[in-house]
Amino acid sequence: MTVPSPPAVSSERIGNVLVARIDNPPVNALSRAVRAGLMDALHRLETDENVAGLVIAAGGRMFSAGADIDEFNGEIQQPFLGDVTDRLEQSSKPVIAAIHGTALGGGLEVALACHHRIAASGTVFGLPEVRLGTLPGSGGIVRLPRLVGIDQALAMIAEGRRIGAEEALSAGLIDRVASGDLMEECVALFDEIAGAAPPRTGDRPFPAFNAEREAAARTALAKKYRGQEAPQKAVDLLAMAARTPMSEALRLEHETCRALLSTAQSRALRHLFKAEREAGKIADVAEDAAARSIDRVGIVGTGTMGRGIAITCLDAGFEVVLIGRSGESADLAREAIANIYASTVRRGRLNEQDVADRLARLETSHSLDRLVETDLVIETISEDIDAKRAVISAIDAIVPDHTIMVTNTSFLDIEQLARATKRPANFAGMHFFNPANVMKLVENIRTEAASDDVLVTLMAFAKRLGKTAVMVGPSDGFVANRMLSKRTREALFLLQEGATPHQIDRVLTEFGFPVGPLALADMAGLDVLAATRRARAATMSKREREADIIERLVVAGRLGQKSGAGYYAYGEGRKPQPDPEVETLLAAHRAERGVGARTISDDEVRERCIFAIINEGARLLEEGVVARPGDIDVLWTKGLGFPAHLGGPMHYAEEIGLPHVRTALAGYAATIGDEYFKPARLIEQRADGSGRFA
Ligand code: COA
Repeated sequence: MTVPSPPAVSSERIGNVLVARIDNPPVNALSRAVRAGLMDALHRLETDENVAGLVIAAGGRMFSAGADIDEFNGEIQQPFLGDVTDRLEQSSKPVIAAIHGTALGGGLEVALACHHRIAASGTVFGLPEVRLGTLPGSGGIVRLPRLVGIDQALAMIAEGRRIGAEEALSAGLIDRVASGDLMEECVALFDEIAGAAPPRTGDRPFPAFNAEREAAARTALAKKYRGQEAPQKAVDLLAMAARTPMSEALRLEHETCRALLSTAQSRALRHLFKAEREAGKIADVAEDAAARSIDRVGIVGTGTMGRGIAITCLDAGFEVVLIGRSGESADLAREAIANIYASTVRRGRLNEQDVADRLARLETSHSLDRLVETDLVIETISEDIDAKRAVISAIDAIVPDHTIMVTNTSFLDIEQLARATKRPANFAGMHFFNPANVMKLVENIRTEAASDDVLVTLMAFAKRLGKTAVMVGPSDGFVANRMLSKRTREALFLLQEGATPHQIDRVLTEFGFPVGPLALADMAGLDVLAATRRARAATMSKREREADIIERLVVAGRLGQKSGAGYYAYGEGRKPQPDPEVETLLAAHRAERGVGARTISDDEVRERCIFAIINEGARLLEEGVVARPGDIDVLWTKGLGFPAHLGGPMHYAEEIGLPHVRTALAGYAATIGDEYFKPARLIEQRADGSGRFA
């Protein structure tokens, strides 16, 4: 027997008030069934003489997360949400929105069209469409400024800013925050407003939006959201709405939102929205694998990574035991962490009490014995396999059976490290990015023996730290560094062949990276990168070893930003300036290697840097090191600066076409070398087939 599914919108009568309740788990997305259900409720409101007014409410944990994102890939079916909101606003009988949890996108647009809005305390409001490369299309842009003014509307529409109930109340977005039962207060409001004409948001005047304010908004948004179309379109639409009659403005708003949905940028951002949520699910663990509980975290190693990870854990509410090599290094680390927190207080991000609470949860020590009550230990000592093995086996001897041990290595052989413990099922990797308390990404690394519940725990732990995590398998440099190393290789080859640091960085920042790879290298420290090159020399080709530009810069005392010079010279304000000395150094390098400098086109620079990454990504998929192309895209956009509006390297490759990528790779294989650019088998196959990696 098939059980009929419950209606997406159910109705009940409370006295002469009709209550329409949205029920479309998990987030009450406004799918076609919900829109149709709301239309039915409106019909009943209009036609049933015994009904004096309508409350729109929702079941579950939120009012609504807005339009159903899954519908955006095809033809959206009627009734459109704009038809619902227009009819709502025009109703001659009052309609009240009873809002709880979250009202986002179309969910907020429904509320804006209602005549009154009451919210439960703790409700969050927002129009996040811009983050999906589109904009509100059902009256959000035309109605919101009429309630909250132009500045708040700009922040919410063009930047996707979310606000809480108290701010929504003071901004004029809602009428009340319920102090007791939300529904009772909504029903009671009908008595207060009986006989009054329903106040329509659209009848309010649109606030002034002068040319000066408009220009300032455009400039600020262009800087903050470089290369993104939707924030600029938001300004266009607000300016349009300020001078256009309501019904025409609604039509234009809807049209623009629909047009934006079919842009490459919106496809890319929607792909990332889905990919981020999928990345949290590990492909092949037992369904019943449950996360272990983590309260107390041990961190071994007090360098930059150890400190950064400690701060992240303290911020997330964990108790932390930070172990240094000596009492002195442990004390220094505590002092450094306290200093970082002090500057957070100066910047107004935390108050003294927040910091005191965090520091009270931090224990520092030089004795590994203090790890005895931890649930998870993160080893963060320097990248030396023997030293790490020794520390891991010492940790193993102290911690209780249930404790999970992870290493924060960025490229060492994780299986070898796992063998340093007697409990390899409890061991895995967590690769944090520097600075760990700022970067929002963690690469979790599974080992052959790691148990399913350990893997699930690490994903949940990363989430509690407020990070996006991607699960990858063992491989040299895992996914992030293995792909990144191909870009670094090409940057060095390009310099050798005649490009300048400035050309390479300019091309990649024009592509959308916030910083170019060479300016980034200067930030990381060229001595650090030279050490990594030394450690990895055995895995490099002769040409790569001989492209020893970093080593030469270091010998010349150019260690990067910290020494005032690296690939660039740094004056006041740390702005990188092209430096003739680097040109001389590059010329000497070329002469010694017998390479003549040539003029290299920007297209070649871009393709070699980006396609080398894509090709390596395809190999990682082929080898099963990473489960989904979307995982690679999440990793690059969250952690490595790949522009989100291009969707990540794998999505970008699909958008520009795998046949095109294959042809370009084959061309560079012929000129630069097969060993660097031979198209990955997966690209060969998919270019002829689906054109997709998934
Ligand atoms: N349409 C369709 N599905 C949606 C959705 C939407 N607007 N919003 C969320 N979902 C789905 C997610 O994909 C996820 O699906 P999954 O369980 O199959 O992976 C599920 O709902 C839960 O979402 P998740 O983000 O994991 O839950 P959360 O509690 O962390 O966050 C929100 C909830 C609503 C804050 C968050 O999902 C969100 O910001 N959604 C987007 C809202 C939006 O952009 N609306 C405008 C659309 S134009």
